[in-house]
Order: sequence, then structure tokens, then C-alpha cells
Amino acid sequence: MSEEPRVAIVTGAARGIGAATARRLAADGMAVAVVDIEEAATKETVDAIAAAGGRALGVGADVSDRDQVEAAVARIAADLGAPTVLVNNAGVLRDNLLFKMTNADWDTVMGVHLRGAFLFSQAAQKHMVDRRWGRIVNLSSTSALGNRGQANYAAAKAGLQGFTKTLAIELGPFGVTVNAVAPGFIVTDMTAATAARMKVDFDDFQKHAAAEIPVRRPGRPEDVAHTISFLASEGAGFVSGQVIYVAGGPRD
Ligand SMILES: NC(=O)c1ccc[n+]([C@@H]2O[C@H](COP(=O)([O-])OP(=O)(O)OC[C@H]3O[C@@H](n4cnc5c(N)ncnc54)[C@H](O)[C@@H]3O)[C@@H](O)[C@H]2O)c1
Repeated sequence: MSEEPRVAIVTGAARGIGAATARRLAADGMAVAVVDIEEAATKETVDAIAAAGGRALGVGADVSDRDQVEAAVARIAADLGAPTVLVNNAGVLRDNLLFKMTNADWDTVMGVHLRGAFLFSQAAQKHMVDRRWGRIVNLSSTSALGNRGQANYAAAKAGLQGFTKTLAIELGPFGVTVNAVAPGFIVTDMTAATAARMKVDFDDFQKHAAAEIPVRRPGRPEDVAHTISFLASEGAGFVSGQVIYVAGGPRD
């Protein structure tokens, strides 16, 4: 173990999977930068970490904007120390069937998921390579395997798997592992919004989803956070370039 606590960045950590991951990494002993598009929105996660005795910094940044990402990583390095753990979690949906999908639907999803992960990884890897130690975890999805109404999101989440494997090859020689977690159905504001868009009661939506899941329950943000905690741990240094489905059952 190093003497100073590891510094982790979690993007999209104001709520949902990102918030649970930030809390978990803080509980694991890391100082955590809680990044989201509006700094004010990070307060709840930052306060929860502080209340549990951890150290957190709320940072506002749009992950798809190079200048904002570079400024965020510089501020995190100055205030918390060099970030050597990065969780690229920020995400948005712009679901539409192909014939109705607009340029904006496509570009927004690519910008947040793919360019966001690219920009944050590029800015953070310098600190990891300098220290010959790092952990990057990217949020993919079971939608990478194909999902109706999500041509943009499925392409981005499949793209993140190729991105993950390539960074694992490039950064491995510097002690940096890069992996992806691919959640199935997780109860968050994102899936609640999908239920609302489909005009289905969210409880019914969860029951229907659970019936199709081998462990017969929907996933929770903590299920994903637990897997990310493992991948970010000291002992996971020989696991790299992997995609771990966190979906309550097997996926191809
Ligand atoms: N919920 C699920 O079932 C599920 C399944 C598979 C994958 N995922 C993925 O997990 C991640 C988290 O999902 P969630 O369900 O917690 O979503 P969520 O919508 O609850 O939270 C996403 C967070 O990302 C932030 N964000 C969005 N755009 C941003 C930007 N440009 N810059 C900075 N922050 C931005 C939002 O403000 C929000 O706080 C996403 O990448 C999502 O695609 C979710």
C-alpha cells in the first residue's frame, strides 16, 4: 500500500451508479473527486462521503469538453493529489428508433460516453504513467450487445469495450489496468426515465425486468460499485482489458 491515500475520479457521480461508486471508493480509503456537469449537484454525494469520515471534492465539468476536463483534472491533482483511479461513468440516453434518430441524438451520446471517456482518460493517464500505477474503469452496458431504440447508445457502449481493450494494451506496461463493467438493469434515475418515457409504472417495469433476470431481482447501484471497487483495488493488478457483465446472469 502507498502511504498517501489513492485519489480517484468518478464522473457522473452526483447520483445513481456514479454516486454509489464514489461512496464505495471513499469507504475503501480513497480520496474521491465527485465530478458532474454542475458542481452544485455533487453536494449530496460529497456530503455523504464526508459524513462517513471520507474525503471528497465536488467538481463541475462537462466530460465532453476538453478544456473543462483538463481544468478539472488539474484542480483535482492540486487539491486532492495525483489521480490514479478513474471511473468513466457519466452517461446520457437519447433513445429513438433509427428512422427518427437525429444528429443531436447521435452526437450527444457519442460526446458524453465516448469523447468523455477519451478526454478524462487522456488527462488522467499522465498522473498514472508518472507513478507507474493506475486503474481505469469504463461503464459499458448490456446494450452493447444490441437494444431496440438505442443505436446510438449501443454503439457508444460497444465502442467503450474496444476503447478499454486498447488502453489496456497501451497503458499496461506502465502499471495501469483498464477494464469495463457492463451493467444490466440497474434501478436509477436513468431507468426510471426510460419507464416514464414508455409510460410504464417504474415498479411494474422493475418487476418485468426482474422476471427475465436469472437472480430474479433488478440490479442496484451498489452491485456495480462493488465490482468497480474490486477492479480499482491493489490486488486486481493482473486483471486488464476485461469486460465484466454485472447483470444478474450470463451475457455473451
Ligand atoms: N442504470 C442502468 O440500468 C445502466 C445500465 C448499464 C449501463 N449504465 C451506465 O452507467 C452509467 C451511470 O448510469 P446511471 O443509471 O447512474 O445514470 P444517471 O442518469 O442516474 O446518472 C448519470 C450522471 O451522469 C451525469 N452526466 C451526464 N452527462 C454529463 C456530462 N456531459 N458531464 C458530466 N456529467 C454528466 C448526470 O448529470 C448524472 O448525474 C452510465 O454510463 C450509464 O450509461 C446504466
